[in-house]
Amino acid sequence: MPEEDSSGQFGMHRRTALKTFGALGAAGVAGATLPGSAAGKGRFGPSWTREQAEQIRRTDANTAPLIDEPVDKLSDSLYIWDTWPLRNRDGSITKINGYQVIFSLTAPNDVPPGARHNLARIRYFYSKNGHDWTLGGEAFENPLGHHQWAGSAMYDQTEDQLYLFYTAVSDGNLPPRERYRQRLAFAKGASMETSSEGVSLTGSFEHHKIAEADGQTYQTLEQSVDQGIVYAFRDPWYFQHPETGEDYVVFEGNTRIEDPSAYQNDWYKWNGNVGIAQATNEELTDWELQEPLLEAITTNQQLERPHIVVNRGNYYLFTISHKFTFAPGLTGPDGLYGFVADSMDGDYQPLNDGGLVVANPTEQPFQTYSHLALPHGDNLLVTSFLNFQDLPGESLDSVSELSPEEQKAVFGGTLAPSLRVQLKGSETRISAELQGGQFLPSAGKSKSGGNGKN
Ligand code: FRU
Repeated sequence: MPEEDSSGQFGMHRRTALKTFGALGAAGVAGATLPGSAAGKGRFGPSWTREQAEQIRRTDANTAPLIDEPVDKLSDSLYIWDTWPLRNRDGSITKINGYQVIFSLTAPNDVPPGARHNLARIRYFYSKNGHDWTLGGEAFENPLGHHQWAGSAMYDQTEDQLYLFYTAVSDGNLPPRERYRQRLAFAKGASMETSSEGVSLTGSFEHHKIAEADGQTYQTLEQSVDQGIVYAFRDPWYFQHPETGEDYVVFEGNTRIEDPSAYQNDWYKWNGNVGIAQATNEELTDWELQEPLLEAITTNQQLERPHIVVNRGNYYLFTISHKFTFAPGLTGPDGLYGFVADSMDGDYQPLNDGGLVVANPTEQPFQTYSHLALPHGDNLLVTSFLNFQDLPGESLDSVSELSPEEQKAVFGGTLAPSLRVQLKGSETRISAELQGGQFLPSAGKSKSGGNGKN
């Protein structure tokens, strides 16, 4: 358990202290650490700064190989994109009676790929070898939200219970101030049954809301519409603190901007953050929002699907981002970005100077997306999905120049080949491309068994 601080609260003092330090630090060095902001104004947290992002370089170490062979599709009738494995509380991949399970955002593939976001349902797949996946079915009968976006999945071995975290999203056809409203949610109550036939979910889930944007630290949908940005309050990733045992989710948010005039130009509109919430009861039904782990104000608008890997005492924070969400004057490829700190709270510094860990090759800048870095021994296994190949233009917008049939033809919509990535302090190197979408247990670290029923 964490120490008790002088106010009698558990676990909060470290994060509050970090916030205070961040504010003093920014004011004290008068804009040197935050070049997009005016000194002494606004609220400044631990940041991915413009200066750091200017160091983003594509190198041999962070550029993924070109995918030039056809990739087998997991399904003939479904698009499959953001995917996450079922993990134990400690983050290792769960194996129950020899089976692994992954959860994916899915949608019928008879619509143009852009329409899939408003139809997304979470389905699960299982496998004995971690790379040949069989569709199990839909995860939920009655989830929260019009549709569901990314999340994470935890299996508590002692309770024999699944905890499935997801984003509950409102209908994208509603008026702007109501569409794509996002809330963090999770479901518990059910488990998994395995047999020689495969894996099925048993029991029924109760669904709980974890958090919604508070409008103070985390910008609400309404505040974001006024500011004209791609809004985010989504992608809860379960993380148990290895030292304190505390339960957290990290997620993608936007920081509310109190005083736009504190920032140069209109760069305050690029206000992505990695948010964090802590469970305040053991049932994980009560949660408390905390100050973001990382903010990219004036740098980038979207830090999607954030997640943490702990290795040799270092805390690695990963997130995915797009070229089109970098602020004016900055650029970086679609891909995986990462940061490292010596504690969960930070202060996070970009890996490889600018933060870039996996970029698509220049010939196919959109070939994969939604990367997920999983611990693999002392290195990483990075999974992703096959996004767009052979687009007519240099941006994702050029998809709209194509007919609906052409759009379907250039969209992959299945797991992409996984990558092995070496991890060395604050540097990384892509060392191998595997065949297909492999979610392999972390060598030497995964738990055996689990107590799922036969
Ligand atoms: C990343 C992402 C996630 C979101 C999902 C919506 O690929 O934008 O942040 O949950 O896709 O489809």
